Amino acid sequence: MNIHISVKNKSMTVDDCKLIELPRFLDARGNLSFIEQYNHIPFEIKRTYWIYDVPGGEARGGHAFIKNQEFIVALSGAFDVIVDDGEKKKTFNLNRSYFGLYVPEGLWREIVNFSTNSFVLEFGSEHYHKEDYIRDYNSFITFKQSEKKQRL
Ligand code: TYD
Repeated sequence: MNIHISVKNKSMTVDDCKLIELPRFLDARGNLSFIEQYNHIPFEIKRTYWIYDVPGGEARGGHAFIKNQEFIVALSGAFDVIVDDGEKKKTFNLNRSYFGLYVPEGLWREIVNFSTNSFVLEFGSEHYHKEDYIRDYNSFITFKQSEKKQRL
């Protein structure tokens, strides 16, 4: 499977998020899945990070990226990714290690409802730059409004 997500003279919406099924080799010795850059992940991977040992009731995320695109996998356990484009919200429940969620840049997103022993694996298209984060929701709305005026 090759996926091409066209770039990008538009303001991204929640409908640009894609749930992508990954290959699975079912085996009596244990199952195996894999992810390939430009095949399942539509960007060059510049960063990988993971979130683990999340206490019950906690939420992660709660920000938007200006440039960074992400691919999120529930390697273990389950959680909800809530994406928000300023007009619409969508919730994706990730609960299988053979699905990944592509989240383009420019969306507010939060990760909530972590099950016990959840393990969130995230691939990013950019190195960590704190200037790439919008952490205040009202600033995000202002950003989206000006983005929509400049783009389609
Ligand atoms: P933070 O952005 O608050 O996590 P979340 O995705 O839940 O919003 O990140 C927590 C800390 O980790 C923050 O001080 C920045 C640091 N950090 C890095 O240094 N590099 C990274 O790639 C990431 C994702 C975070």
